[in-house]
Amino acid sequence: MKKSVVIVEMGLRDGLQNEVKVLDADTRVEFAQRLIEAGVKRVEIGAFVSPQWVPQMAGTADVIQKTFALVKMGKISKKIEFSALVPNERGMQDALKAGVKEIAIFAACSESFSLKNINCSIDESFKRFEPVMALAKKYKIKVRGYLSTCFGCPFEGRVPEAKVVKLAQRMHKLGVYEISIGDTIGVANAGQVESLFRKLKKVVPVKKLAGHFHDTRGQALANILEAYKLGVTVFDTSLGGLGGCPYAPGATGNVATEDVVYMFHGMGIKTGLNLDKLISINPWMSEKIEHKLPSKVGKVGMLR
Ligand code: HMG
Ligand code: MG
Repeated sequence: MKKSVVIVEMGLRDGLQNEVKVLDADTRVEFAQRLIEAGVKRVEIGAFVSPQWVPQMAGTADVIQKTFALVKMGKISKKIEFSALVPNERGMQDALKAGVKEIAIFAACSESFSLKNINCSIDESFKRFEPVMALAKKYKIKVRGYLSTCFGCPFEGRVPEAKVVKLAQRMHKLGVYEISIGDTIGVANAGQVESLFRKLKKVVPVKKLAGHFHDTRGQALANILEAYKLGVTVFDTSLGGLGGCPYAPGATGNVATEDVVYMFHGMGIKTGLNLDKLISINPWMSEKIEHKLPSKVGKVGMLR
């Protein structure tokens, strides 16, 4: 098994998109800086979605411009990879204008969630990806893909594995470099993760698969460990366990970055992140969003 994993930090997008308190661009840039100082190398910085649908992500272009200015000034390393969520061609045009070099497209595995989240069917969402992928090719933009509701849908219940596997194949064919398998409402258990990832590995190379676990039912660490045992080494996490999905009722945040780092470091598996620095971001973020964060390690720290 590989002795290192990659953490993709979701706090600025998946995290903040579901917070009642909307943070301004400067605070979001400072959040990115703090995460990068703690060793984060891949950051999903925002989303080019409709501000009517997700007001928290308005100003993403501003956040990107200000962050890239810091990169130019040498205050943030050029090696940090920033990506932004894009649902359609309009979002892609905005992403190109903002100058991001990586975007992420997203599709659901259940029709009702697709409709609630992006106002179209799954088929229609894939049609919308075509011009996005064409522009990405033209401008040499890396594209990551998400599949949501891979284990369960808040409106339809259980989602059949075969459907997820088919959609993963379809997304892979589009030419994304990585597919993040989303447990949007944190409903999966380790047995289901093992079963689904075994099937996914047969159609998509495991090095192209990532795990995106929300921690709604406290199963995310077990699920990550199970996916890791099957060869998955990229995991999406949010500082403090921030957020959730605004169109998935009851969904809580991604698994907390600190909790995942604590587990992997304890097992002798490198993440490249500094746990003390991550923990120190918790009280700062708590003050900004005006409530406590759910992270466990973030709350009590490490044993000295
Ligand atoms: P729509 O209302 O169907 O869009 O929304 P439309 O094409 O009918 O256009 C309506 C208006 O929106 C037009 O403006 C468009 O220009 C504008 P008007 O002519 O009325 O002035 N518009 C846009 N504005 C800004 N950015 C855009 C854009 N597109 C159209 N990209 C749309 C469709 C997809 C835009 C909307 O449903 C939307 O923004 N949804 C996003 C929802 C979202 O962000 N959800 C959370 C992220 S997904 C997630 O969290 C899951 C994940 O974490 C994985 C997991 O956990 O499983 C990734
Ligand atoms: Mg999510």
